[in-house]
Amino acid sequence: MLEKIKAIQQEVEAATATTIEQVEELRLKFVSKKGVLSQLFAEFKNVPPDQKKAVGQAINTLKNFALDKINSLKASFDVASGQDIGLDLTRPGEPVKPGTRHPLSLVRNEIIDIFARMGFIVAEGPEIEDDWHVFSALNFPPEHPARDMQDTFFIEKNPDVLLRTHTSSVQIRVMEKTQPPIRAIFPGRVFRNEAISARSHCIFHQVEGLYVDENVSFADLKQTLLQFAKELFGEGTQIRLRPSYFPFTEPSAEMDVSCSICDGKGCNVCKYSGWLEILGCGMVDPNVLEACKIDSQKYTGFAFGMGIERIAMLRYGIKDIRLFFENDVRFLKQFESAL
Ligand code: PHE
Repeated sequence: MLEKIKAIQQEVEAATATTIEQVEELRLKFVSKKGVLSQLFAEFKNVPPDQKKAVGQAINTLKNFALDKINSLKASFDVASGQDIGLDLTRPGEPVKPGTRHPLSLVRNEIIDIFARMGFIVAEGPEIEDDWHVFSALNFPPEHPARDMQDTFFIEKNPDVLLRTHTSSVQIRVMEKTQPPIRAIFPGRVFRNEAISARSHCIFHQVEGLYVDENVSFADLKQTLLQFAKELFGEGTQIRLRPSYFPFTEPSAEMDVSCSICDGKGCNVCKYSGWLEILGCGMVDPNVLEACKIDSQKYTGFAFGMGIERIAMLRYGIKDIRLFFENDVRFLKQFESAL
């Protein structure tokens, strides 16, 4: 009997399989109900009592050995396809791919870095605001169209609660709490009741800035923004200021930068003008300073504000603003890794 067990053991040891079907054949042959091992157990009752212990142990050892062998053969096959998947437990693991930063975060961080080097700190405020911080303190007259339902998301039951339409509200919050000198930028999400298209969205992001101190002049504004434009778009970048209007600045201007795509020669991105409009700016209106209890005889200041989406679209050549909000991994993974 022990001889027989040994022979079967050798047979199991030598067994190989090249397909999952062959593994199944081996299982049927050795360990199924009608298999070789079941027969051995059946024969066990005929074993003389003095050999029972040794034979019993040998059969059990063989059974465990056969089960292990069949399981390990099975594990080396892909059960679904019946193909050898070449399982190699010593192979190094697949590298874990780090995520990528969102393009809007990349551009926002770059803008923050540039202004941080010029001494501007970052301040944040709430997205759900009141009329005072978004409009009244910023010198919007009561009948100004920006208060119109077309532009602003109001809460139906209480028109004093609204989603901020610009981060100028944070300028007010900072000026209410701090006396000059103030040098800060305000990145954040803003909301406007606009139809969603390739060029505009009802949610977008801004970075606004504010500098209030004694003797702050328009020349300071110009120099600060020129330096910013050069750092963001390249040393050769030029700026152009065109007169404009905002209730909270006087005088006000829109700033264009020379088109970094065609170097000012004219292309379809700058609509053959050689210039790209990127921000609004101006000298803080004295009424705004007074609303925040800052002495407008003693202090002057400048402010500016820009849309992050617009700059990211120019920077990366993105043609549709909606891509920023769809979170399509194929779009997102094209940007710089988060590590
Ligand atoms: N708040 C303005 C806007 O939403 C931008 C701006 C900020 C203009 C500061 C001038 C000064 O678009």
